Amino acid sequence: MSRASIEWISGPVLRARATGPFALREALRVGPNQLLGEVVSLHEDLLVAQVYEDTTGLRPGDAVEGSGLPLSIRLGPGLLGSICDGLLRPLSGSDSVFVAPGFSGASTRRHAFRPLVQPGQVLHAGAEFGRVAGPSAGAREHRCLVPPGKSGEVLRIVAVGEHCDDEVLCVLKDATGTEHQLMMSEVWPVRVPRPVAQRLPSGDPLVTGQRVIDALFPVALGGKAAIPGGFGTGKTVLLEALVKACAADVIVYLGCGERGNEMAGAVEEIAGLIDARSGRPMSERTVIVANTSNMPVAAREASIYCAVTIAEYFRDQGLHVALMADSTSRWAEALREVSGRLGELPGEGGYPAYLGSRLAEFYERAARVRTLSGDLGSVTLIGSVSPQSGDFSEPVTSHTTRYVRSFWALDVTRARARFYPAIAPLASYSQDADTVAGWWVGVFAETFGAAMNGAEEGWQALRRRFLTLLAEQARLERMARIVGKDALQPQQRLTLLCAEVVNETFLRQSAYSAKDAYCGPQRQARMMRLLGRFMDLAAAALARGASPEAVAALPVLRPLQRMGDEIGEDEAEAFVALEAALEADFATLLTEAGDAPQA
Ligand SMILES: Nc1ncnc2c1ncn2[C@@H]1O[C@H](COP(=O)(O)OP(=O)(O)OP(=O)(O)O)[C@@H](O)[C@H]1O
Ligand SMILES: [Mg+2]
Repeated sequence: MSRASIEWISGPVLRARATGPFALREALRVGPNQLLGEVVSLHEDLLVAQVYEDTTGLRPGDAVEGSGLPLSIRLGPGLLGSICDGLLRPLSGSDSVFVAPGFSGASTRRHAFRPLVQPGQVLHAGAEFGRVAGPSAGAREHRCLVPPGKSGEVLRIVAVGEHCDDEVLCVLKDATGTEHQLMMSEVWPVRVPRPVAQRLPSGDPLVTGQRVIDALFPVALGGKAAIPGGFGTGKTVLLEALVKACAADVIVYLGCGERGNEMAGAVEEIAGLIDARSGRPMSERTVIVANTSNMPVAAREASIYCAVTIAEYFRDQGLHVALMADSTSRWAEALREVSGRLGELPGEGGYPAYLGSRLAEFYERAARVRTLSGDLGSVTLIGSVSPQSGDFSEPVTSHTTRYVRSFWALDVTRARARFYPAIAPLASYSQDADTVAGWWVGVFAETFGAAMNGAEEGWQALRRRFLTLLAEQARLERMARIVGKDALQPQQRLTLLCAEVVNETFLRQSAYSAKDAYCGPQRQARMMRLLGRFMDLAAAALARGASPEAVAALPVLRPLQRMGDEIGEDEAEAFVALEAALEADFATLLTEAGDAPQA
């Protein structure tokens, strides 16, 4: 084993003189407590390393040992429901509430294993050799797959029984005579993307239950999205709403550099939730990686790779995985701090020159794929960005913009007015909208059936109409500030009214409302169609002499604006009744205006 002796140390960074060969990115054991470190540069016999744990107490002369392996984590069935630090050491569980320093062993928890193959069978990477029972009765079973790069004929396999994470369950012998030991867990280097058979284009969205996202700025399964927003604009609340409601099979939540007490609150809440779709505990399908602001900064840098590696691991089981990272800015700050300690030349904003390529590497790992087992799986990445004073031109936000396809910009003015989620429609976009349009055609057909005739507007037309309306609103508001509201034409005043209704009814959605915290695709479709109908009727009324103010005074406006809060998921008949009230109100308005309504 290679050894080195510490010569200089500053915070998480150390220099050591090596007496044996080390490799770049090799994991290290540092000092008497065997702290976890990683080689970041090598020059002749001088190595520079970053240490992932508190280095207080280390001193020159202390020993550094090579591990012969790159920085890796153990991936296995025990991950679901667990809460770990940035290097995957458990923060919860039986042993201790504290993270033990140094290398972590496998967990001692035992799982019920059931073999699926027999000696003599030939297995390739991705083949399933057994299953592990879920954490409780009725939970999904965990598939034990031959890890990437391994294959061969089954020499032996254990019988049904309880086993630990790191026990050898099956032995393969490949064509060269090499034996491979398989366990229910596997060790994988975090900075290396896990291989897939094929990257596939996406067609379906990741349904989030947030109207402004699903209907206006969708993210495809396997897509990548960013939530930039200044201090207190609702990034964390939005991400937590996505964790609770999004339609992924597995969710990895990465709390990166956030305040410890907030993180603890989030963790507790998730742990206690019951999944509305399946009726099962949320913890059965979540993994929480927590690296709060008081934990060592280098570990925060690594935590993002750990989290995405976990996501890929579950994707390889044929699952759809969503990774929510809060916040990528805190991660970039860790990168900046370590880079500064390493004495690297600072670039824009003090961040290292490789900030952009590191962000790209992270977002690149989002994909919809055909796995080595031949199944479909995906990793969708959603990261919040917290630019200083909400300035989106700063390096982390501007680099992120280049790599994500969905951009949900949170707006300080909206947040201050307590308009949540504070996603600003004019500053946000989605390049996945065309991708998921076909999926929405299906939702509309399913929701309205025969009532949808060919001429009626579908999702794409309604979406475009809403976005045009909101852009027009911004233009008219600018104009009204100059010429005054009274100078606006009736047509323009009606546009402002319609935009107000769309904003209040459709874009606004409280994360704390019993009926509205989650809005399913069919309910979104009903609301969109009803708002489209309202705009049609209002325009027709205007054309026949009714004033925008008379439209605004219609009794139906109040229930229309409150339909999100008042009409729940399975209350289709209430939408039908509301539509009837809408038609009736406009009919009355036109009669009063002295004009008979047209059929
Ligand atoms: N969707 C929402 N529905 C209702 N209230 C919300 C919503 N989003 C945010 N809020 C309110 O705004 C407050 C701040 O939100 P949050 O903590 O998510 O902001 P943040 O952007 O994560 O802040 P920081 O920059 O400090 O991380 C919340 O405590 C909550 O009161
Ligand atoms: Mg936050």
